[in-house]
Amino acid sequence: MEVKTIGVIGAGAMGRGIAYAAACGGYRTILEDVSPEMLEQGIAYIRQNLEEGVARGKVTEEQRNIALANLTTSRSVEDLCREADLLIEAVPEEMEVKLEIFTIFDKFALPAAILASNTSSLSITELAAITFRAQNCIGMHFFNPVPVMKLVEVIRGLATSQSTYNMVRDLAIALDKTPVEVNDAPGFVSNRVLMPLLNEAMYAVMEGVATAPAVDEVFKLGMAHPMGPLTLADFIGLDVCLDIMRVLHAGLGDPKYRPCPLLIKMVDAGWLGKKSGQGFYQY
Ligand code: CAA
Repeated sequence: MEVKTIGVIGAGAMGRGIAYAAACGGYRTILEDVSPEMLEQGIAYIRQNLEEGVARGKVTEEQRNIALANLTTSRSVEDLCREADLLIEAVPEEMEVKLEIFTIFDKFALPAAILASNTSSLSITELAAITFRAQNCIGMHFFNPVPVMKLVEVIRGLATSQSTYNMVRDLAIALDKTPVEVNDAPGFVSNRVLMPLLNEAMYAVMEGVATAPAVDEVFKLGMAHPMGPLTLADFIGLDVCLDIMRVLHAGLGDPKYRPCPLLIKMVDAGWLGKKSGQGFYQY
């Protein structure tokens, strides 16, 4: 099967970025969200990125026009399933929600369609098991901001077939990304290693070892990180960080993955980082 049409479910920060990459890669791209506002914002983000690309000479006017012509929207996952060769869900990081989407995929998707999840930590094997086509299910984990970040973690569930893996690996390359093969485990590689670092940085702040800006300076100047860990946590979303720490803690059973109490307290307060205007910094 050749992938011609890509359906992206969820027009949040990740979904809109994935749709941008798919449309720029020359694929017919359908972006879906239950919220018309999110869909509108998602399309505006893609347009803005293309316009900025043209203004900076990184994207030609022709490429912009082709990408925009490739892009359509939908308000129904069922409708989108009937057309897409590859479905990528980028809905909130909750197993129940993702299982619901995979159940709809299984019911309505084309027989040969690939069913992918952009989950940052949840089990691909468990998502696949809700379907009757686990061999077609896979993890395709993009990084924020998607237009800039080159990595796609390609996660094999227990039953993922070699041909599904090969197609997704080749597609990631066609989207100008670099695929890295990873097996299914809580947090995969990226968040198993990144999140404990961010969590530990939060402990350092909570215990008064240093202020948030001081911790960030250490990592920017001492380790050449583009963003310090607390700025990065704010950028990712503190709720997302907490969800991932909880997946690591529950899935690996080791107390070293215990979410920092300060992180829990901030999320309880509605301090979710950049998107809410308040996190370790004010926005
Ligand atoms: N969308 C599109 N392009 C963007 C962008 C965005 N949101 N933010 C920055 N850019 C582009 C800029 O236009 C610029 O492009 P040119 O080089 O063509 O001019 C380039 O990126 C560099 O941007 P800036 O000079 O403005 O700023 P910077 O050098 O500080 O880079 C950054 C910004 C790329 C975001 C950088 O700070 C960075 O790499 N931060 C770390 C990001 C990171 O770790 N992401 C992963 C998060 S974890 C995740 O996503 C997965 C998960 O499961 C939680």
